[in-house]
Amino acid sequence: MADKITAPLIREKHRKGEKIACLTAYDAVFGHLADASGADVILVGDSLGNVVLGYSSTVPVTLDEMVNHTRSTRVGVKRALFVSDLPFGTYQSSVAQSVDSAVALAKAGAEAVKLEGEYTDQIAAIVKSGLPVMGHVGMTPQSVNLFGGFKVQGKGSSGQSVVDAALRVQDAGAFAIVLELIPAEVAQQITEALEIPTIGIGGGIHCSGQIQVIHDVLGLNPKPMKHARQYMKAHDAIIAALSQYTEDVRTGQFPGKDNSF
Ligand code: KIV
Repeated sequence: MADKITAPLIREKHRKGEKIACLTAYDAVFGHLADASGADVILVGDSLGNVVLGYSSTVPVTLDEMVNHTRSTRVGVKRALFVSDLPFGTYQSSVAQSVDSAVALAKAGAEAVKLEGEYTDQIAAIVKSGLPVMGHVGMTPQSVNLFGGFKVQGKGSSGQSVVDAALRVQDAGAFAIVLELIPAEVAQQITEALEIPTIGIGGGIHCSGQIQVIHDVLGLNPKPMKHARQYMKAHDAIIAALSQYTEDVRTGQFPGKDNSF
């Protein structure tokens, strides 16, 4: 097995000019599949809310839910850097709250945490406590109600505010930063201004790496967003397989002799 990936190794890869490939995963099965792909970073995103738990956004996701799914995914992830999201309402109130929440995710197996926005005191305090932090700026989904939807941020003159936010997150001690749904030229400007790697999702080709939701990559989500590319059509393939099973049960084709004792 290749070397275990750590937060310092991610920065090292970036210094060498290597692109960083990241995927989300939410349980042991998908954690194993993502790890076996050789991805550098596996994130238990709070996209858990929309992707797995059926919520309409990440806002309702709780720390307990993140802890449970982090503990499960941990079982499947051996090599990639294993990162978990601090959900909405578990770090914004105070520095102490953010450290306590980050520690809960670390106890469940996270090797780093990610948080959204310019919570620079919180980032510095979590790093000081001994846990690497990944930042996240641009379209930060926990603020969907403020943005009025999942809309591209940083267009036109507001681009500079995203650049400034990214710089402040870096200065607070983040080892990498997610750039979500921002114009490619703004992501390029940020990538050129920062020393830490930028990880794009809807941030264009100039980012230092990319992250995608594993369900989108596999085609499990029949209506993926524009920034995603389907590498297979798992949604259709799974329904076809399950329909065949249902049909076989009804017509007496399953179980066969091979499945009987
Ligand atoms: O929650 C999530 O999955 C994320 C990534 C898509 C960056 O934050």
